[in-house]
Amino acid sequence: MKPSIMIVDDEKSIRDNLAKYLSAEYTAYTAANGNDAVKTLSENSDIEVVLSDMKMPGMDGLELLEKLREDNKEVIVILITGFSTIESAVDAMRRGAYDYLTKPIDLNKLEITIKNAIENKKLRSENILLRQRIRERIDATSLVGKSQGIKDIISLVDRVSSTKATVLIQGESGTGKELVANVIHYNSLVAHGPFIKVNCSALAEGVLESELFGHEKGAFTGAMFMKKGRFELADGGTLFLDEIGDLPASIQIKLLRFLQESEFERVGGTRTIKVDVRIISATNKNLEQLVKEGKFRDDLFYRLKVVTIEVPPLRERREDIPLLIDFHLKRFTEIHNKQVSGISREAMKLIRTYDWHGNIRELMNCIESAVVMSIGDVIDVDSLPPFMTIGQKNQATGIASRNLFDIEKKAILEALEKHRGNKAETARSLGIGLRTLYRKLHQYGVET
Ligand SMILES: Nc1ncnc2c1ncn2[C@@H]1O[C@H](COP(=O)(O)OP(=O)(O)OP(=O)(O)O)[C@@H](O)[C@H]1O
Ligand SMILES: [Mg+2]
Repeated sequence: MKPSIMIVDDEKSIRDNLAKYLSAEYTAYTAANGNDAVKTLSENSDIEVVLSDMKMPGMDGLELLEKLREDNKEVIVILITGFSTIESAVDAMRRGAYDYLTKPIDLNKLEITIKNAIENKKLRSENILLRQRIRERIDATSLVGKSQGIKDIISLVDRVSSTKATVLIQGESGTGKELVANVIHYNSLVAHGPFIKVNCSALAEGVLESELFGHEKGAFTGAMFMKKGRFELADGGTLFLDEIGDLPASIQIKLLRFLQESEFERVGGTRTIKVDVRIISATNKNLEQLVKEGKFRDDLFYRLKVVTIEVPPLRERREDIPLLIDFHLKRFTEIHNKQVSGISREAMKLIRTYDWHGNIRELMNCIESAVVMSIGDVIDVDSLPPFMTIGQKNQATGIASRNLFDIEKKAILEALEKHRGNKAETARSLGIGLRTLYRKLHQYGVET
Protein backbone atom coordinates (compact mmCIF):
# COMPACT_ATOMS: atom_id res chain seq x y z
CA MET A 1 0.00 0.00 0.00
CA LYS A 2 1.25 3.46 -0.86
CA PRO A 3 1.74 5.88 2.02
CA SER A 4 -0.71 8.78 2.03
CA ILE A 5 0.15 12.44 2.00
CA MET A 6 -1.85 15.65 1.80
CA ILE A 7 -0.95 18.82 -0.07
CA VAL A 8 -2.37 22.03 1.35
CA ASP A 9 -2.12 25.12 -0.86
CA ASP A 10 -4.53 27.86 -1.77
CA GLU A 11 -3.25 27.87 -5.36
CA LYS A 12 -5.08 25.18 -7.27
CA SER A 13 -2.42 24.73 -9.97
CA ILE A 14 0.31 24.12 -7.39
CA ARG A 15 -1.60 21.54 -5.37
CA ASP A 16 -2.85 19.74 -8.46
CA ASN A 17 0.61 19.57 -10.02
CA LEU A 18 2.25 18.39 -6.83
CA ALA A 19 -0.48 15.82 -6.28
CA LYS A 20 -0.03 14.54 -9.81
CA TYR A 21 3.73 14.38 -9.46
CA LEU A 22 3.64 12.60 -6.11
CA SER A 23 0.83 10.21 -6.97
CA ALA A 24 3.32 7.78 -8.50
CA GLU A 25 4.55 6.89 -5.02
CA TYR A 26 1.88 8.21 -2.70
CA THR A 27 -1.83 8.41 -2.34
CA ALA A 28 -2.19 12.18 -2.56
CA TYR A 29 -5.00 14.16 -0.96
CA THR A 30 -5.38 17.91 -1.45
CA ALA A 31 -6.86 20.76 0.56
CA ALA A 32 -7.21 24.44 -0.29
CA ASN A 33 -6.66 25.85 3.21
CA GLY A 34 -6.09 24.98 6.85
CA ASN A 35 -9.71 24.33 7.68
CA ASP A 36 -10.12 21.99 4.73
CA ALA A 37 -6.93 20.22 5.74
CA VAL A 38 -8.16 19.57 9.29
CA LYS A 39 -11.38 18.16 7.90
CA THR A 40 -9.64 15.92 5.34
CA LEU A 41 -7.26 14.67 8.02
CA SER A 42 -10.05 13.74 10.38
CA GLU A 43 -11.70 11.73 7.63
CA ASN A 44 -8.52 10.02 6.42
CA SER A 45 -6.45 8.63 9.26
CA ASP A 46 -4.04 7.05 6.80
CA ILE A 47 -2.43 10.42 5.99
CA GLU A 48 1.12 10.39 7.29
CA VAL A 49 2.57 13.58 5.85
CA VAL A 50 1.10 17.05 5.45
CA LEU A 51 2.82 19.28 2.95
CA SER A 52 1.54 22.75 3.62
CA ASP A 53 2.00 26.24 2.21
CA MET A 54 2.70 28.89 4.85
CA LYS A 55 0.60 31.75 3.54
CA MET A 56 -3.02 30.91 2.99
CA PRO A 57 -6.23 32.80 3.59
CA GLY A 58 -8.02 31.71 6.75
CA MET A 59 -6.01 29.22 8.74
CA ASP A 60 -2.39 29.51 7.52
CA GLY A 61 0.39 26.91 7.68
CA LEU A 62 1.56 27.83 11.17
CA GLU A 63 -1.93 27.83 12.60
CA LEU A 64 -2.54 24.47 10.96
CA LEU A 65 0.61 23.11 12.60
CA GLU A 66 -0.49 24.47 15.94
CA LYS A 67 -3.93 22.93 15.58
CA LEU A 68 -2.49 19.51 14.70
CA ARG A 69 -0.15 19.62 17.70
CA GLU A 70 -3.03 20.64 19.95
CA ASP A 71 -5.05 17.69 18.70
CA ASN A 72 -2.02 15.44 19.23
CA LYS A 73 -2.06 14.32 15.63
CA GLU A 74 0.91 12.07 14.91
CA VAL A 75 1.20 13.45 11.41
CA ILE A 76 4.43 14.88 9.96
CA VAL A 77 4.22 18.48 8.81
CA ILE A 78 6.52 19.83 6.10
CA LEU A 79 6.05 23.52 5.32
CA ILE A 80 6.52 25.23 1.99
CA THR A 81 7.71 28.76 2.26
CA GLY A 82 8.52 31.77 0.10
CA PHE A 83 11.38 34.07 1.01
CA SER A 84 9.12 36.32 3.02
CA THR A 85 8.27 33.59 5.48
CA ILE A 86 11.59 31.78 5.99
CA GLU A 87 11.97 33.08 9.52
CA SER A 88 8.57 31.88 10.59
CA ALA A 89 9.35 28.51 8.99
CA VAL A 90 12.36 28.16 11.24
CA ASP A 91 10.14 29.08 14.14
CA ALA A 92 7.70 26.42 12.94
CA MET A 93 10.37 23.76 13.19
CA ARG A 94 10.90 24.69 16.79
CA ARG A 95 7.21 24.12 17.27
CA GLY A 96 7.27 20.68 15.79
CA ALA A 97 7.32 20.94 12.00
CA TYR A 98 9.56 18.25 10.52
CA ASP A 99 11.19 20.47 7.90
CA TYR A 100 10.52 23.28 5.47
CA LEU A 101 11.15 23.68 1.75
CA THR A 102 11.57 26.96 -0.08
CA LYS A 103 9.82 27.97 -3.26
CA PRO A 104 10.31 27.27 -6.06
CA ILE A 105 10.11 23.66 -4.96
CA ASP A 106 12.96 21.40 -5.98
CA LEU A 107 11.09 18.18 -6.72
CA ASN A 108 14.08 15.93 -5.98
CA LYS A 109 14.52 17.53 -2.62
CA LEU A 110 10.80 17.29 -1.96
CA GLU A 111 10.82 13.56 -2.61
CA ILE A 112 13.86 12.96 -0.40
CA THR A 113 12.39 15.03 2.40
CA ILE A 114 9.12 13.11 2.35
CA LYS A 115 10.89 9.76 2.22
CA ASN A 116 13.14 10.67 5.15
CA ALA A 117 10.23 12.00 7.13
CA ILE A 118 8.28 8.77 6.77
CA GLU A 119 11.35 6.67 7.59
CA ASN A 120 12.05 8.86 10.58
CA LYS A 121 8.53 8.52 11.85
CA LYS A 122 8.65 4.77 11.49
CA LEU A 123 11.90 4.55 13.43
CA ARG A 124 10.57 6.84 16.10
CA SER A 125 7.46 4.84 16.70
CA GLU A 126 9.46 1.61 16.70
CA ASN A 127 11.76 3.18 19.23
CA ILE A 128 8.90 4.26 21.45
CA LEU A 129 7.43 0.78 21.24
CA LEU A 130 10.74 -0.83 22.10
CA ARG A 131 11.30 1.43 25.08
CA GLN A 132 7.75 0.82 26.22
CA ARG A 133 8.32 -2.91 26.03
CA ILE A 134 11.53 -2.66 28.01
CA ARG A 135 9.77 -0.55 30.58
CA GLU A 136 6.91 -3.02 30.84
CA ARG A 137 9.40 -5.80 31.35
CA ILE A 138 11.20 -3.80 34.01
CA ASP A 139 7.91 -3.09 35.71
CA ALA A 140 6.89 -6.72 35.62
CA THR A 141 10.15 -7.99 37.10
CA SER A 142 10.54 -5.04 39.42
CA LEU A 143 11.85 -6.16 42.70
CA VAL A 144 9.72 -9.04 43.85
CA GLY A 145 9.65 -9.32 47.63
CA LYS A 146 7.93 -8.22 50.80
CA SER A 147 10.83 -8.24 53.25
CA GLN A 148 11.83 -5.08 55.06
CA GLY A 149 15.02 -5.13 52.99
CA ILE A 150 13.12 -4.95 49.71
CA LYS A 151 10.66 -2.39 51.09
CA ASP A 152 13.56 -0.16 52.09
CA ILE A 153 15.06 -0.46 48.63
CA ILE A 154 11.78 0.37 46.93
CA SER A 155 11.32 3.42 49.11
CA LEU A 156 14.87 4.59 48.37
CA VAL A 157 14.42 3.95 44.65
CA ASP A 158 11.24 6.02 44.76
CA ARG A 159 13.05 8.91 46.33
CA VAL A 160 16.12 8.89 44.08
CA SER A 161 14.31 8.22 40.82
CA SER A 162 12.98 11.73 40.53
CA THR A 163 16.43 13.25 41.17
CA LYS A 164 19.65 13.10 39.19
CA ALA A 165 21.66 11.99 42.20
CA THR A 166 24.57 9.64 41.68
CA VAL A 167 23.75 6.24 43.17
CA LEU A 168 26.03 3.46 44.38
CA ILE A 169 24.50 0.00 44.69
CA GLN A 170 26.29 -2.50 46.89
CA GLY A 171 25.52 -6.14 47.46
CA GLU A 172 26.70 -9.69 46.97
CA SER A 173 26.75 -11.31 43.60
CA GLY A 174 23.31 -12.14 42.21
CA THR A 175 21.32 -10.06 44.70
CA GLY A 176 19.71 -7.87 42.06
CA LYS A 177 21.97 -4.83 41.78
CA GLU A 178 21.56 -4.51 38.04
CA LEU A 179 17.82 -4.89 38.36
CA VAL A 180 17.75 -2.06 40.91
CA ALA A 181 19.76 0.13 38.51
CA ASN A 182 17.24 -0.62 35.77
CA VAL A 183 14.30 0.18 37.99
CA ILE A 184 15.84 3.53 38.95
CA HIS A 185 16.44 4.47 35.34
CA TYR A 186 13.06 3.44 34.01
CA ASN A 187 11.28 5.29 36.79
CA SER A 188 13.39 8.42 36.48
CA LEU A 189 13.01 11.71 34.68
CA VAL A 190 15.35 10.42 31.96
CA ALA A 191 13.47 7.15 31.44
CA HIS A 192 12.98 8.10 27.79
CA GLY A 193 16.75 8.55 27.43
CA PRO A 194 19.30 5.78 26.93
CA PHE A 195 20.35 3.31 29.63
CA ILE A 196 23.92 2.34 28.88
CA LYS A 197 25.80 -0.33 30.79
CA VAL A 198 29.54 -0.89 31.11
CA ASN A 199 31.16 -3.75 32.97
CA CYS A 200 34.35 -2.22 34.36
CA SER A 201 35.96 -5.57 35.10
CA ALA A 202 35.45 -7.12 31.69
CA LEU A 203 37.87 -4.99 29.68
CA ALA A 204 41.58 -4.24 29.75
CA GLU A 205 42.50 -0.75 30.95
CA GLY A 206 43.21 0.83 27.54
CA VAL A 207 40.16 -0.70 25.90
CA LEU A 208 37.96 0.33 28.81
CA GLU A 209 39.11 3.93 28.63
CA SER A 210 38.26 4.29 24.97
CA GLU A 211 35.04 2.33 25.46
CA LEU A 212 33.98 4.81 28.14
CA PHE A 213 35.27 8.08 26.75
CA GLY A 214 35.60 7.30 23.06
CA HIS A 215 38.65 8.06 20.94
CA GLU A 216 39.66 10.37 18.15
CA LYS A 217 40.74 9.12 14.77
CA GLY A 218 44.42 8.12 14.97
CA ALA A 219 44.46 8.09 18.80
CA PHE A 220 46.33 4.78 18.67
CA THR A 221 47.32 2.24 16.04
CA GLY A 222 44.18 0.82 14.61
CA ALA A 223 41.98 3.80 15.50
CA MET A 224 40.94 4.45 11.93
CA PHE A 225 37.80 6.34 12.83
CA MET A 226 36.58 8.57 15.61
CA LYS A 227 34.50 6.58 18.04
CA LYS A 228 32.03 7.90 20.58
CA GLY A 229 32.31 6.43 24.06
CA ARG A 230 29.56 5.22 26.37
CA PHE A 231 29.48 8.56 28.17
CA GLU A 232 28.44 10.24 24.94
CA LEU A 233 26.01 7.47 24.05
CA ALA A 234 24.39 7.88 27.47
CA ASP A 235 23.85 11.61 26.97
CA GLY A 236 20.39 12.51 28.27
CA GLY A 237 20.11 9.22 30.13
CA THR A 238 21.86 6.93 32.61
CA LEU A 239 25.27 5.31 32.55
CA PHE A 240 25.46 2.15 34.66
CA LEU A 241 29.03 1.36 35.74
CA ASP A 242 28.98 -2.24 36.90
CA GLU A 243 31.80 -3.75 38.99
CA ILE A 244 33.09 -0.25 39.74
CA GLY A 245 35.51 -1.70 42.30
CA ASP A 246 37.64 -2.94 39.38
CA LEU A 247 38.05 0.48 37.78
CA PRO A 248 41.77 1.09 37.13
CA ALA A 249 43.37 4.10 38.82
CA SER A 250 43.92 6.06 35.61
CA ILE A 251 40.23 5.85 34.77
CA GLN A 252 39.18 6.64 38.34
CA ILE A 253 40.71 10.11 37.87
CA LYS A 254 38.84 10.68 34.62
CA LEU A 255 35.57 9.56 36.16
CA LEU A 256 36.13 11.84 39.14
CA ARG A 257 36.59 14.79 36.82
CA PHE A 258 33.42 13.89 34.99
CA LEU A 259 31.47 13.73 38.24
CA GLN A 260 32.79 17.14 39.23
CA GLU A 261 32.50 18.94 35.91
CA SER A 262 30.37 16.77 33.59
CA GLU A 263 33.14 16.89 31.02
CA PHE A 264 35.96 14.84 29.53
CA GLU A 265 38.06 14.43 26.40
CA ARG A 266 38.07 11.49 24.05
CA VAL A 267 41.24 9.40 24.11
CA GLY A 268 43.79 11.15 21.89
CA GLY A 269 41.67 14.28 21.74
CA THR A 270 41.91 17.80 23.11
CA ARG A 271 38.35 18.97 22.58
CA THR A 272 36.37 19.02 25.82
CA ILE A 273 33.05 17.24 25.58
CA LYS A 274 30.15 17.98 27.89
CA VAL A 275 27.30 15.55 28.38
CA ASP A 276 24.32 15.26 30.66
CA VAL A 277 24.52 11.78 32.19
CA ARG A 278 23.33 10.29 35.44
CA ILE A 279 25.76 7.81 36.94
CA ILE A 280 24.68 4.66 38.74
CA SER A 281 27.46 2.32 39.82
CA ALA A 282 27.44 -1.11 41.41
CA THR A 283 29.88 -3.42 43.11
CA ASN A 284 29.96 -6.62 45.08
CA LYS A 285 33.23 -5.56 46.67
CA ASN A 286 33.63 -3.59 49.85
CA LEU A 287 34.59 -0.21 48.40
CA GLU A 288 35.34 1.26 51.78
CA GLN A 289 37.88 -1.50 52.33
CA LEU A 290 39.39 -0.84 48.89
CA VAL A 291 39.71 2.83 49.84
CA LYS A 292 41.52 1.87 53.04
CA GLU A 293 43.85 -0.36 51.07
CA GLY A 294 44.58 2.53 48.71
CA LYS A 295 43.08 0.70 45.71
CA PHE A 296 40.18 3.09 45.25
CA ARG A 297 40.30 6.90 45.46
CA ASP A 298 38.44 8.19 48.47
CA ASP A 299 37.35 11.40 46.68
CA LEU A 300 35.78 9.30 43.94
CA PHE A 301 34.17 6.99 46.49
CA TYR A 302 32.40 9.94 48.15
CA ARG A 303 31.25 11.33 44.79
CA LEU A 304 29.80 7.97 43.80
CA LYS A 305 27.92 7.29 47.00
CA VAL A 306 25.78 10.39 47.20
CA VAL A 307 23.06 7.81 47.68
CA THR A 308 24.00 4.26 48.63
CA ILE A 309 21.66 1.34 48.23
CA GLU A 310 22.57 -1.88 50.00
CA VAL A 311 20.92 -4.92 48.49
CA PRO A 312 20.73 -7.57 51.20
CA PRO A 313 21.63 -11.19 50.42
CA LEU A 314 18.80 -13.66 50.06
CA ARG A 315 19.63 -15.48 53.32
CA GLU A 316 18.73 -12.28 55.18
CA ARG A 317 15.30 -12.08 53.59
CA ARG A 318 14.10 -15.65 53.35
CA GLU A 319 10.50 -14.48 53.54
CA ASP A 320 10.90 -13.31 49.94
CA ILE A 321 11.73 -16.80 48.73
CA PRO A 322 8.14 -18.05 48.20
CA LEU A 323 7.29 -14.92 46.20
CA LEU A 324 10.44 -15.27 44.14
CA ILE A 325 9.72 -18.93 43.50
CA ASP A 326 6.21 -18.14 42.44
CA PHE A 327 7.32 -15.34 40.16
CA HIS A 328 10.13 -17.23 38.45
CA LEU A 329 8.16 -20.47 38.31
CA LYS A 330 5.54 -18.75 36.18
CA ARG A 331 8.22 -17.21 34.01
CA PHE A 332 10.15 -20.39 33.33
CA THR A 333 7.01 -22.47 32.90
CA GLU A 334 6.07 -20.14 30.10
CA ILE A 335 9.53 -19.93 28.59
CA HIS A 336 10.00 -23.70 28.55
CA ASN A 337 6.43 -24.44 27.67
CA LYS A 338 5.86 -26.75 30.64
CA GLN A 339 2.73 -27.41 32.67
CA VAL A 340 4.08 -26.82 36.16
CA SER A 341 1.55 -25.29 38.53
CA GLY A 342 3.23 -25.52 41.91
CA ILE A 343 5.83 -26.92 44.18
CA SER A 344 5.59 -29.62 46.81
CA ARG A 345 5.87 -28.79 50.49
CA GLU A 346 9.15 -30.71 50.91
CA ALA A 347 10.74 -29.02 47.92
CA MET A 348 9.60 -25.63 49.20
CA LYS A 349 11.08 -26.36 52.61
CA LEU A 350 14.36 -27.36 51.06
CA ILE A 351 14.53 -24.20 48.96
CA ARG A 352 13.58 -21.97 51.87
CA THR A 353 16.27 -23.32 54.13
CA TYR A 354 19.03 -23.69 51.56
CA ASP A 355 22.01 -21.39 51.90
CA TRP A 356 21.74 -19.36 48.70
CA HIS A 357 25.29 -18.17 48.29
CA GLY A 358 24.63 -17.22 44.67
CA ASN A 359 21.53 -15.38 45.86
CA ILE A 360 18.61 -14.76 43.50
CA ARG A 361 20.56 -15.74 40.42
CA GLU A 362 21.32 -19.16 41.93
CA LEU A 363 17.73 -19.54 43.10
CA MET A 364 16.52 -18.68 39.61
CA ASN A 365 18.83 -21.23 38.02
CA CYS A 366 17.57 -23.84 40.44
CA ILE A 367 13.96 -23.08 39.59
CA GLU A 368 14.66 -23.09 35.90
CA SER A 369 16.36 -26.45 36.07
CA ALA A 370 13.57 -27.83 38.26
CA VAL A 371 10.96 -26.66 35.77
CA VAL A 372 12.84 -28.28 32.93
CA MET A 373 13.41 -31.53 34.85
CA SER A 374 9.92 -31.80 36.31
CA ILE A 375 7.72 -34.63 35.14
CA GLY A 376 4.31 -33.97 36.70
CA ASP A 377 2.69 -30.60 37.26
CA VAL A 378 4.21 -30.18 40.71
CA ILE A 379 7.89 -29.66 41.37
CA ASP A 380 9.06 -32.21 43.89
CA VAL A 381 12.38 -32.77 45.62
CA ASP A 382 13.33 -35.14 42.78
CA SER A 383 13.27 -32.31 40.26
CA LEU A 384 15.61 -30.15 42.31
CA PRO A 385 19.29 -30.14 41.40
CA PRO A 386 21.20 -32.95 43.21
CA PHE A 387 23.45 -30.58 45.15
CA MET A 388 20.42 -29.40 47.06
CA THR A 389 19.16 -32.78 48.15
CA ILE A 390 22.67 -33.85 49.11
CA GLY A 391 23.10 -30.70 51.12
CA GLN A 392 19.94 -31.50 53.00
CA LYS A 393 21.03 -34.99 53.90
CA ASN A 394 24.22 -33.56 55.25
CA GLN A 395 22.45 -30.91 57.24
CA ALA A 396 20.63 -33.78 58.88
CA THR A 397 23.91 -35.45 59.74
CA GLY A 398 25.29 -32.16 60.94
CA ILE A 399 28.33 -31.64 58.78
CA ALA A 400 30.04 -28.33 59.38
CA SER A 401 32.09 -28.18 56.19
CA ARG A 402 30.86 -25.83 53.47
CA ASN A 403 33.02 -27.41 50.82
CA LEU A 404 30.55 -28.70 48.28
CA PHE A 405 32.89 -31.42 47.10
CA ASP A 406 33.31 -32.79 50.62
CA ILE A 407 29.62 -32.57 51.38
CA GLU A 408 28.79 -34.38 48.18
CA LYS A 409 31.41 -37.07 48.71
CA LYS A 410 30.33 -37.71 52.25
CA ALA A 411 26.66 -37.87 51.25
CA ILE A 412 27.35 -40.27 48.43
CA LEU A 413 29.50 -42.59 50.55
CA GLU A 414 26.95 -42.56 53.36
CA ALA A 415 24.15 -43.42 50.97
CA LEU A 416 26.24 -46.18 49.47
CA GLU A 417 26.81 -47.64 52.90
CA LYS A 418 23.14 -47.34 53.78
CA HIS A 419 22.19 -49.24 50.62
CA ARG A 420 24.91 -51.82 51.34
CA GLY A 421 26.82 -50.98 48.18
CA ASN A 422 23.82 -51.26 45.85
CA LYS A 423 24.65 -48.56 43.32
CA ALA A 424 21.33 -48.44 41.51
CA GLU A 425 19.51 -47.89 44.79
CA THR A 426 22.10 -45.39 45.97
CA ALA A 427 21.80 -43.35 42.79
CA ARG A 428 18.03 -43.40 43.00
CA SER A 429 18.00 -42.28 46.61
CA LEU A 430 20.30 -39.38 45.75
CA GLY A 431 18.31 -38.37 42.72
CA ILE A 432 21.28 -38.72 40.37
CA GLY A 433 21.94 -40.98 37.41
CA LEU A 434 23.79 -44.27 37.80
CA ARG A 435 26.54 -43.10 35.46
CA THR A 436 27.01 -39.94 37.47
CA LEU A 437 27.38 -42.07 40.58
CA TYR A 438 30.09 -44.21 38.91
CA ARG A 439 31.91 -41.09 37.76
CA LYS A 440 31.81 -39.57 41.25
CA LEU A 441 33.03 -42.78 42.89
CA HIS A 442 35.84 -42.92 40.40
CA GLN A 443 36.71 -39.31 41.32
CA TYR A 444 36.83 -40.21 44.99
CA GLY A 445 39.05 -43.15 44.17
CA VAL A 446 36.50 -45.62 45.52
CA GLU A 447 36.88 -49.10 44.00
CA THR A 448 33.75 -50.23 42.19
N1 LIG B 1 13.79 -8.76 43.73
C1 LIG B 1 13.86 -9.48 42.60
N2 LIG B 1 12.76 -9.93 42.04
C2 LIG B 1 12.81 -10.68 40.93
N3 LIG B 1 13.93 -11.01 40.29
C3 LIG B 1 15.08 -10.57 40.79
C4 LIG B 1 15.11 -9.77 41.97
N4 LIG B 1 16.38 -9.46 42.23
C5 LIG B 1 17.11 -10.04 41.28
N5 LIG B 1 16.34 -10.71 40.40
C6 LIG B 1 16.81 -11.47 39.25
O1 LIG B 1 17.99 -12.14 39.61
C7 LIG B 1 18.98 -12.12 38.58
C8 LIG B 1 20.25 -11.54 39.12
O2 LIG B 1 20.08 -10.16 39.37
P1 LIG B 1 21.15 -9.07 38.93
O3 LIG B 1 21.82 -9.43 37.66
O4 LIG B 1 20.50 -7.76 39.02
O5 LIG B 1 22.19 -9.26 40.14
P2 LIG B 1 23.56 -8.53 40.42
O6 LIG B 1 23.52 -8.12 41.85
O7 LIG B 1 23.80 -7.48 39.40
O8 LIG B 1 24.60 -9.71 40.28
P3 LIG B 1 26.19 -9.68 39.94
O9 LIG B 1 26.88 -9.05 41.10
O10 LIG B 1 26.52 -11.12 39.81
O11 LIG B 1 26.34 -8.91 38.68
C9 LIG B 1 18.38 -11.31 37.47
O12 LIG B 1 17.90 -12.18 36.49
C10 LIG B 1 17.26 -10.53 38.13
O13 LIG B 1 16.22 -10.26 37.22
MG1 LIG C 1 25.36 -7.38 38.00
